[in-house]
Formats: sequence, structure tokens, C-alpha cells
Amino acid sequence: ASPLLGDIESVLLEEARIRQRVQELGHQISHEYKDLDPLFVGILKGAVLFLSDLLRAVSIPSTVDFMAISSYGAGTKSSGVVRILKDLDHPIADRHVIIVEDIVDTGLTLRYLLDNLQSRKPASLRVCVLLDKSEQRQLPVHLDYVGFSIPNRFVVGYGLDYAEHYRNLPFIGILSPEAVQRGSR
Ligand code: PRP
Ligand code: MN
Ligand code: MG
Repeated sequence: ASPLLGDIESVLLEEARIRQRVQELGHQISHEYKDLDPLFVGILKGAVLFLSDLLRAVSIPSTVDFMAISSYGAGTKSSGVVRILKDLDHPIADRHVIIVEDIVDTGLTLRYLLDNLQSRKPASLRVCVLLDKSEQRQLPVHLDYVGFSIPNRFVVGYGLDYAEHYRNLPFIGILSPEAVQRGSR
């Protein structure tokens, strides 16, 4: 196996299964947002692969923008303190906004995003997330579109990283304990 694949303990979601589900989500959104010209807000960097496939499955007029945020404070993301690294390029007032995330874990990132974007007075605000790791939730967040509910395992691939690696895997896999111990590489 390649050095990359050697770090994967098992495959949780195969490429074909992800593709199928993303197609379904794209079709559902196309149906529900017909004539609403939705704005997809991708959250860098994890959502990039999911967003790019989702957009190709959407068959209605729509636009896309990006935000990058960073958790800080005591070096742990569970602080809930979030900083905007890159804001949206355009105002979202009166737009139908769909936040696109790769995964919701504690819910802290999404809670911040929802509060922040809601304050900009969009016409509507919904969430489309590929993976819901609900066992880890610390804050309740409503998810409008969910690709898959997953167990409380450390998953990588299809945008999800461990120390910035593994985002390029075309599937979602469980990282081996050895790879976790070794660190990023
Ligand atoms: C990951 C993931 C979500 C967030 C979910 O992003 O992409 O955005 O964490 O975790 P939470 O529900 O516990 O807040 P990360 O901060 O690792 O940045 P990245 O997208 O650049 O990998
Ligand atoms: Mn992220
Ligand atoms: Mg990350």
C-alpha cells in the first residue's frame, strides 16, 4: 500500500457511497431552493471537497462564497472562541444562505457560524453537513441536510484532516492509532 493508504485502519465511507449521497443532497437542495438563488457558504478548509462535489450536483442558479475561521484560546478548539481568518466577500442580507461543512463534532464551530451569519440578516439560513458525529456534541445545533451520521472515531479524507494531512483521500477512513501517534507525517 502507498504510505498514505498505510495510515488508514479501515474505510468508513467508500468513494461511490459518498458520491451517491452527495448527488441526493444536491438534488434535494435543487428542488427545495428552486427560484431562490441560494448562496453556498463553504467553510475552509475541510468543506472544500464536499462543496465542490455538491455544487456540481446542484442544477439551479446559485452562488458560492467562503469563510475561514480558526479556534483559539488554550490551543484547544473546545474553547469555543473563534476568530474569522477570511470573511465572506459579499453581504448576505436577504439571501438564502446554506452553510456547507464537512463535519459537525462538538458543534462549537457551527454555533459560532450560525450566530455570526444570522446577525447579517439573511432571508434564510440552513446547514448542509456531510458528517454528523453527534456523540461529541457540546452545543445543540440544528442540521438541515446531513450526509451521514458517523460513530465517534477519528476520521480523515474527503477534506477532513489530521494535522493538515489526508484531506486528499477520495474516501473517508478511520486513521490508524500508529498514524495518530506519529503525528502529521
Ligand atoms: C473541523 C471541521 C469543522 C469543525 C468541526 O475544522 O472541518 O469545521 O472542525 O468541529 P466542531 O464541531 O468541534 O467545532 P477545523 O477547525 O479542523 O479546520 P479545517 O476545516 O481547516 O480542518
Ligand atoms: Mn473545518
Ligand atoms: Mg481540521
